[in-house]
Amino acid sequence: MAGAIIKGLKSSDFELMLSERDAETSQAVATELGIAAATSHQDLIDQADLVVLGVKPQFLESALAGLEMTKPVLSMAAGVTLERLAALTSSDIPLIRIMPNLNAQILKSTTAICFNSLVSDDMKIVAKRITDSFGSTFEIAEKDFNTFTALAGSSPAYIALFIEALAKSGVKYGFAKDLALDIVNQTVLATAENLLTGSDSPHTFIDKVSSPGGTTVAGVLDLEKTGLTASVVSSIDVTIDKANNL
Ligand SMILES: NC(=O)c1ccc[n+]([C@@H]2O[C@H](COP(=O)([O-])OP(=O)(O)OC[C@H]3O[C@@H](n4cnc5c(N)ncnc54)[C@H](OP(=O)(O)O)[C@@H]3O)[C@@H](O)[C@H]2O)c1
Repeated sequence: MAGAIIKGLKSSDFELMLSERDAETSQAVATELGIAAATSHQDLIDQADLVVLGVKPQFLESALAGLEMTKPVLSMAAGVTLERLAALTSSDIPLIRIMPNLNAQILKSTTAICFNSLVSDDMKIVAKRITDSFGSTFEIAEKDFNTFTALAGSSPAYIALFIEALAKSGVKYGFAKDLALDIVNQTVLATAENLLTGSDSPHTFIDKVSSPGGTTVAGVLDLEKTGLTASVVSSIDVTIDKANNL
């Protein structure tokens, strides 16, 4: 995820520096990504204006142990609250929490952002410039982060599952898998774009595709007979519940 974010930031005017597990790895990864390397985490903190944390949540505590965190911090760690982040870093620094998704790989992440009370308006603008560099940004209350995680963080996997199921149906009726996937991906992409840029709600859109007595309405009713809406809502319930209990 940090690599995807660096890719986005490289097209901006931010100066970037990274610190990996050790100086040798930092230098190798930094050379690969075309940015500067710090000699240690503390060296990076001392030189930076803002520290971005990209390690997995379970390694955050050990990665931060013994460091003097004197600079504002931006964390992407799933499930790690601003309160927990303050306990791991320092209680008197500006803290920014984000939740990106894997579409950051193509600079199209849907990213949530929230701030502690020490983040100034100017710093909020800088933080949003950072997240906008790899997608779109939604400022939401921290209490809604787990809902956002389900709707935007995890949902790319659910959407991919739907795409895979449609493509498999194409294979069942004789299409090669690659061709079926291409057809379905193009259709899903265009449908999302149509809903995003057009004036139709999903409801109106479904009605427009469903000619009276036609094929689509038969398929839509069958999807509901097997409980598509209930199934999706149930999976979101389970995702939020899991995030609440991490
Ligand atoms: N993946 C997603 O879709 C996604 C979505 C939202 C948020 N996030 C968040 O993004 C963060 C990174 O997740 P990820 O999936 O990108 O994990 P990842 O692929 O494991 O990347 C973590 C990176 O941190 C490095 N690292 C581990 N310990 C370190 C240390 N002590 N000092 C410096 N670097 C260290 C790892 O190096 P090694 O390879 O040597 O271990 C690796 O390059 C997590 O907090 C996660 O919650 C991820």
